[in-house]
Amino acid sequence: MSTSSKELWRNWDAETGGMIKRLSQIAKGGAPDGNMLRVLPALKKMYSPGSRVLDVGCCVGEYLAMLRKQVDPEIDYTGVDATKKYLDVARSIFKQTRFVEGDILNLPFDDNAFDLVFCVNVLQHIAPPLTVPLRELLRVSRRTVVIYLLSDICDMQIQQFRKPGDAWDSLPFFYHNVYSKKTVVSTIRKICPNARIFNAAGNGYRMGPLNTKYNVFVACKSTEGDILKGDQ
Ligand SMILES: C[S@@+](CC[C@H](N)C(=O)[O-])C[C@H]1O[C@@H](n2cnc3c(N)ncnc32)[C@H](O)[C@@H]1O
Repeated sequence: MSTSSKELWRNWDAETGGMIKRLSQIAKGGAPDGNMLRVLPALKKMYSPGSRVLDVGCCVGEYLAMLRKQVDPEIDYTGVDATKKYLDVARSIFKQTRFVEGDILNLPFDDNAFDLVFCVNVLQHIAPPLTVPLRELLRVSRRTVVIYLLSDICDMQIQQFRKPGDAWDSLPFFYHNVYSKKTVVSTIRKICPNARIFNAAGNGYRMGPLNTKYNVFVACKSTEGDILKGDQ
């Protein structure tokens, strides 16, 4: 793991409970949050029964209850995250499910180990460049990668400082790396020249004076991605 990734990991480890509490409620079957609802259509389209599914940056496993409810009650799901305390919570909620400790910069899985790999709300917190984490996501996926991240017209990095009383105020600040759509698409193309790439519109997200967007990108390593043509 690079120094910068370790640095960020320490930040995640300093989290004292705000996010764990909120996301654990979702994991236990509460109402899904807005991010999940935006990613779900792409996941549903790209899933087929028997698909091996990997959730990168799975946190407390908050996506799993929704996937079981809305995609497949028998889904073959694995979660991987760098923060042990989140994984401990995930394992206590989902006792029979595989949760693995690992870094997105060096995923502890073989090439093509999964069919459908998704990564939601993680890449904006990983130090640039995007190349290493995207290469890892594409490497472990045989078929499709679904990514949800902040993007805008240009690349930039924002440090958002926390004030006492803010949600999750144990962290002094947060990195948000914002990538342009062009960077996301060209980086995927460089890693995987034959990939078909689809971009579903995201939601606006106000951060200081900016108005960046969360976007869903789907990279397909095979022609199965054509099912998404209408979403481009
Ligand atoms: C904002 S949370 C998103 C959680 C979940 N994917 C969601 O959308 O609700 C970011 C997650 O990424 C994890 N994370 C941070 N750095 C990581 C790294 N280098 N490798 C793997 N996971 C990492 C954190 O532990 C945290 O669970």
